[in-house]
Amino acid sequence: MSVVGETDDAPALPGSAIASGINDLESLMHKPIRKAVLPVAGLGTRFLPATKAVPKEMLTIVDRPIVQYVVDEARAAGIEHIVFVTGRNKTVIADHFDRAYELEDTLKSRHKDEALELLDKIRPAAGSTSFTRQQDPLGLGHAIWCARDIIGPEPFAVLLPDVIIKSDVSCLKQMVDLYDQIGGNIIAVEEVPEDQTHKYGIVELGAEINARASRITNMVEKPAPGTAPSNLMITGRYILQPDVFDLLSRHETGAGGEIQLTDSMLALMASQSFASIRFEGKSYDCGSKAGFLIANIAYALDDQDLAGELLPLLHDVLD
Ligand code: UTP
Repeated sequence: MSVVGETDDAPALPGSAIASGINDLESLMHKPIRKAVLPVAGLGTRFLPATKAVPKEMLTIVDRPIVQYVVDEARAAGIEHIVFVTGRNKTVIADHFDRAYELEDTLKSRHKDEALELLDKIRPAAGSTSFTRQQDPLGLGHAIWCARDIIGPEPFAVLLPDVIIKSDVSCLKQMVDLYDQIGGNIIAVEEVPEDQTHKYGIVELGAEINARASRITNMVEKPAPGTAPSNLMITGRYILQPDVFDLLSRHETGAGGEIQLTDSMLALMASQSFASIRFEGKSYDCGSKAGFLIANIAYALDDQDLAGELLPLLHDVLD
């Protein structure tokens, strides 16, 4: 079988040309990112009692659940299949992405076409979602490992569903565009104030790839104040090679006694390239109360009608 551009009578190539040919071929051969994992098995303890019966991912930002924003971001990046890693009390997430026959029938009989269209638009195609249970919330790394059989031997995306990213171009799409050029593993990062780095996972940068992307040489979880290698925090969006599953299968526990994704990424860094991308956009950590509330205000102010109603009310509260 011949490879793209290969002919039987091709002249012998000098070493450097062979090497650059191999590089070109490698870049042509990056397997596409078709699948994404959304780990939604966490307990959401910071939002108790709200999250006693309702999953954190189903709390609403303006008029849609947090997880809907993340699924929309993945679909806008060309993701074809979404794997939800769920736990007990999370069945409502599967219901949200399914048909609601009674509701849709009632909307139809009442000629609520706009509402019907909206429901149609947000629903992933039949067969394009999978749900697997983590069973025990042993940590983010363990949740991702639970998706191994559904993902199989191909690179994939991970989107933490409690982080939503407001941007003109889907954050994951920006990452996929970079991946298409350079392959490997890619992590979205965002600048934080220097005095806040101790709260986040922070990357150490190597060679620059372009104005927004660089190689990553190290990652540090919550560095002690004044010791962070940069002010770039890991934002909850990853493109990973499937080899990470072998490392996760060791089930080694790290910070907080949990199986951490960061530990396996660090181990993978010994043999594979990692790059960071400072995406265009802004993230909101909806896993924290302040982040969740400010996300609601930011997204509400994007809607002109709602902003008109909301702004005077906000001024009232602040005065
Ligand atoms: P968090 O630690 O922020 O979520 O994990 P949590 O545990 O639900 O929140 P709190 O701290 O108790 O309030 C980040 C993401 O990883 C998922 C969570 O659902 C969340 O989306 N996760 C975490 C799992 O799926 N399984 C786990 O064992 C841990």
